[in-house]
Amino acid sequence: MCGIVGYIGKKNALQIILDGLQRLEYRGYDSAGVSIINDNKELITYKKKGKVSELAENIDINLFAGSVGIGHTRWATHGVPNDVNAHPQFDMDEKIALVHNGIIENYKTLKTMLQNEGYVFRSDTDTEVLTNLINYHYKSKKDLETAVRFALNEVDGTYGIACISSFEPDKIIAARKGSPLMLGIGIEEIIIGSDASAIINHTKNVIYLEDGEMCVLTKHGFQLKTIKDEDIFREIEEIEFDLQEIEKSGYDHFMLKEICEQPETIQNTYRGRINFETGVVKLGGLESIKDKIVNAKRIIITACGTSWHAGLIGEYLIEQMCRIPVEVDYASEFRYRDPVINEGDIMVVISQSGETADTLAALREAKKKGAVTVGLVNVVGSTIAREVDAGTYIHAGPEIGVASSKAFTSQVMSLILLALMIAGEKKTLSDDELKRIANDLKTLPEKIKKCVEAKDDYKFIADELKSASNFLYLGRGLNFPVALEGALKLKEISYIHAEGYPAAEMKHGPIALIDENMPVVIIAPKDKTYDKIISNIEEVKARKGKILAIASEEDNNINDYADFVIRVPKTFNLFAPIINNIPLQFLAYYIATARGCNVDQPRNLAKSVTVE
Ligand code: M6R
Repeated sequence: MCGIVGYIGKKNALQIILDGLQRLEYRGYDSAGVSIINDNKELITYKKKGKVSELAENIDINLFAGSVGIGHTRWATHGVPNDVNAHPQFDMDEKIALVHNGIIENYKTLKTMLQNEGYVFRSDTDTEVLTNLINYHYKSKKDLETAVRFALNEVDGTYGIACISSFEPDKIIAARKGSPLMLGIGIEEIIIGSDASAIINHTKNVIYLEDGEMCVLTKHGFQLKTIKDEDIFREIEEIEFDLQEIEKSGYDHFMLKEICEQPETIQNTYRGRINFETGVVKLGGLESIKDKIVNAKRIIITACGTSWHAGLIGEYLIEQMCRIPVEVDYASEFRYRDPVINEGDIMVVISQSGETADTLAALREAKKKGAVTVGLVNVVGSTIAREVDAGTYIHAGPEIGVASSKAFTSQVMSLILLALMIAGEKKTLSDDELKRIANDLKTLPEKIKKCVEAKDDYKFIADELKSASNFLYLGRGLNFPVALEGALKLKEISYIHAEGYPAAEMKHGPIALIDENMPVVIIAPKDKTYDKIISNIEEVKARKGKILAIASEEDNNINDYADFVIRVPKTFNLFAPIINNIPLQFLAYYIATARGCNVDQPRNLAKSVTVE
């Protein structure tokens, strides 16, 4: 949700900022801009509606020579995407430029106050209010750091900001509250980024800013403080991933790369955490609160979007394997319904980015009410990862495609590990069962690989179905959330309307939609619900709907019923959501590309939703 880059050092800032913005573009892509302090110590800006590539193509690089600068790629909250609302925003005198990720909630009150003081506004953004507020304080304090501090103490809401000014041309001021921001500490240079992808090709040494902190950067170093002016010392940390992990490596899209990576990413999730001889799972990050988790009276899982779908699978797994009651809540609803939290409740928070504002708010609410909190997070060092009582990283690696793919399967894998850990301790699964599960897990990467290798078959089916306007996805039990996730994937990247339902619910309403134009994707494993699923298929066929069945390899029957069949390797029931999800990711991907959609940057979306 908006990407911020800043550079101060000896090199030309513009190229570094543009490169960083390209890498952060998955966070928002409706407009982009840069401000540089040029060699004459003047503040110059170029910003534009559209993608970072358009900004880069149109900017006059000769004009923008300078070694201090900031840049932004926007996901609009206040004001439509256009050149004026693009960031950087300036103060009325055009002396201060600021990039912002977040929302200034009291901007109307502040704007009225400033208008009464004679300030004039050009844009519809909340950010412009902050720039004028800094200008207002600068007039009396004559010090940029103090002016920013005073302004930040007056705003309500969330921000990650970077600010430069021709008043004090040799510094950048950065601050954060609720929106991520980090510093890459290079040799005689510092790069500011909303996340590590903007920094990694310059340095692996980083400092994460915490909420309520600001930093003054100069060519000689940096000073970290709270916005209350208290000094802070923070250890430098090392980024764990490499540059190649955030590059396309020859794939047409990040999403395709990320789908194809799953045989490896799934192994990264469980590697070193399960003993394959005994099936015993040890999650190092949860050791400190393991007893509390094992003895939980209830587990509440909270998340948004795809992560919420993983949570629904977690509910089935934990209830079946551990006999602990589980509730799954949309994070965005959780804190507004005054939830009941009792002693012994554990909240599991699932988030790829670790920055989703709704999920973070639910986590804070649960903590306030006394729940012990557990994080299943992908991005190392993210806010949720740092605020939970204990957590385990899912280790899917950087996910750049806006539509989540490999993070989903790694989230499910993490939930399986969590359930196995609890079940092993509680003895709700026997030693033999644990061993058999561990044995089957060994074969999972190979099975995922088989699914990936069949991608041309999925492409063929995608071509056959690409013109449909509506899809229905059906599944039962553990595969019901897979149906939801399949439908979400198709919706977000191809803009085709799709609904996921428990298969048996179809007859309670959605069946009214079915006609010869309606493809129905149905997950049909050979398990105890198979006959019922076949009946659901018959119901669709009787209404001329087209069936695409995701069926087991050994199912010799399914071709008699389905128009299209995708076969997946046989696996243990608990791994089925992972296996069944892979073809659905490909199906969405190939339908979207066949329709000419930009799968990595679907319209209106952003990878990390840091506003509520
Ligand atoms: O980073 P998070 O897992 O917290 O994000 C949650 C959702 O915003 C995310 O899963 C979203 O639904 C994706 N676009 C799904 O592909």
